[in-house]
Amino acid sequence: MDAGFAAGTSIPSVAFGTWTLGGGAQATDYVEQAISVGFSHIDTAQSYRNEEEAGKAIRESGLAREDLYITTKFSGRDGLDIETSIKNSLKFLRFRANGFCTVLLQLGVDYVDLYLIHHPRLATPDIPTAWAKMEKLKQDGLVKSASPTPFIRFEDSPLTFCSARRRSIGVSNFGVPELQILLASAKVKPAANQILLHPYVHARQSPIIEFGNAHGIVSEAYSVLIPLTHQPGGPVDKPVNDIASRLQVKPEQVLLAWAKSKGVVVVTSSTKEERLKGYLAAGDLALTADDVAAIDAAGAKGARRQKVRAFVSRVAVVALAAAVGFGVCGYLGIDLI
Ligand SMILES: NC(=O)c1ccc[n+]([C@@H]2O[C@H](COP(=O)([O-])OP(=O)(O)OC[C@H]3O[C@@H](n4cnc5c(N)ncnc54)[C@H](OP(=O)(O)O)[C@@H]3O)[C@@H](O)[C@H]2O)c1
Repeated sequence: MDAGFAAGTSIPSVAFGTWTLGGGAQATDYVEQAISVGFSHIDTAQSYRNEEEAGKAIRESGLAREDLYITTKFSGRDGLDIETSIKNSLKFLRFRANGFCTVLLQLGVDYVDLYLIHHPRLATPDIPTAWAKMEKLKQDGLVKSASPTPFIRFEDSPLTFCSARRRSIGVSNFGVPELQILLASAKVKPAANQILLHPYVHARQSPIIEFGNAHGIVSEAYSVLIPLTHQPGGPVDKPVNDIASRLQVKPEQVLLAWAKSKGVVVVTSSTKEERLKGYLAAGDLALTADDVAAIDAAGAKGARRQKVRAFVSRVAVVALAAAVGFGVCGYLGIDLI
C-alpha cells in the first residue's frame, strides 16, 4: 500500500480554517489576514460555501502556489459526486461549447494539496468504493488534466509544474472501525484523518490518533478551543488558566500547545490578528508532562460529568413523559393497573 503522503511532502502543523467565516468580502479579508500573519495552511470545505472567498485571498496573497498548503473536503454538496465536486472546487473560469464562458469562481487553483472525505456518511455507496474514487483522483493529480473542459489557469504560475505525487487524499471524522474498512481495500493510505479533539473528548478520540500513528495516518484536530468557546466553566479551565498565568500566555495558546503535545496537526481559526499571531507562537510553547497530564485529567473529569448530566436529563425526560402519560390516562379514566 502506498503511503498517504508522498516522499518529500510535509503538512504545515497548524491550519487556518474557514468554517465560521461566512461568505463575502469579509471572509476573503480574514483569510488574507491569516496568510499575512504567517499561516501557510488553509483548511476549507465545499459545505463551508466560502471556497471562492478563500481562493480570492490565496490568489491575492502574491504567494507562489507551492508556498501554500490547501485542504478542501468532499461534503456531498448539491448531491454531486466526489470527482465533480473537486472539479467544481478547483474551477475558476469555464468556456462553454457556444464560445461563451461561465464564471465559476471557486478556489481557482490547479490542485489542492489535500482532499478529504468530510464524513464517513458521505462515503457512498460504501467506504471502499468512495475511497477507490479518491485514489483515482490522486492518480490523476486531483483532476488536473482529467476534465475535457478547458480551464483558464494563472499564466506563468509555478504550480503548472508541480508533480501530481504531491497531492494527498484523506478522510475526516473517521473512527477506528471506518479506518479499518478503508484500509482493508485501499491501495493508497489516507494521508490524514481530521477529527474533533479537545480535552473533554480526548479519552474517546485518542484510540483514533493511536490507530493513525500505527498506520502512518496523520491526525488533524479541529475545535481544540471548545473548552473556551462552547464549554467554559468546566474543570479544564483551572489547569489551563494556571498554566497560562505561569507561562504568561493566553489560555487558547495553552490549549493549542496541549493539542500539539498529542502529535496532531491543529486546525483552528480566528477573526483577530493578535489571536492568530498567538496561535502561531503556541507552536513554541513547551508544556511539561505534568501540564499535559493535568489537562487530560480535567478533561476526563468533565467528560464524566457530561455523561452523568446526559443520563440524568434522559431519566428526567422519561419520568416527565411517564407522568404526562399517567395524567392523561387518569383524565380519560383509563386504568393502567
Ligand atoms: N472536518 C470537520 O468536520 C470540521 C469540523 C469543525 C471544524 N473544522 C475545521 O476546523 C476549523 C476550526 O474550527 P473551530 O472554529 O471549531 O476551531 P477552534 O480553534 O476550536 O475555535 C476557533 C474560535 O475560537 C475563538 N476563540 C479563540 N480564543 C478564544 C477565547 N480566548 N475566548 C473565546 N473564543 C476564543 C475564535 O474566535 P475569534 O474569531 O473571536 O478569535 C474562533 O472563532 C474550522 O474552520 C474548519 O476548517 C472541521
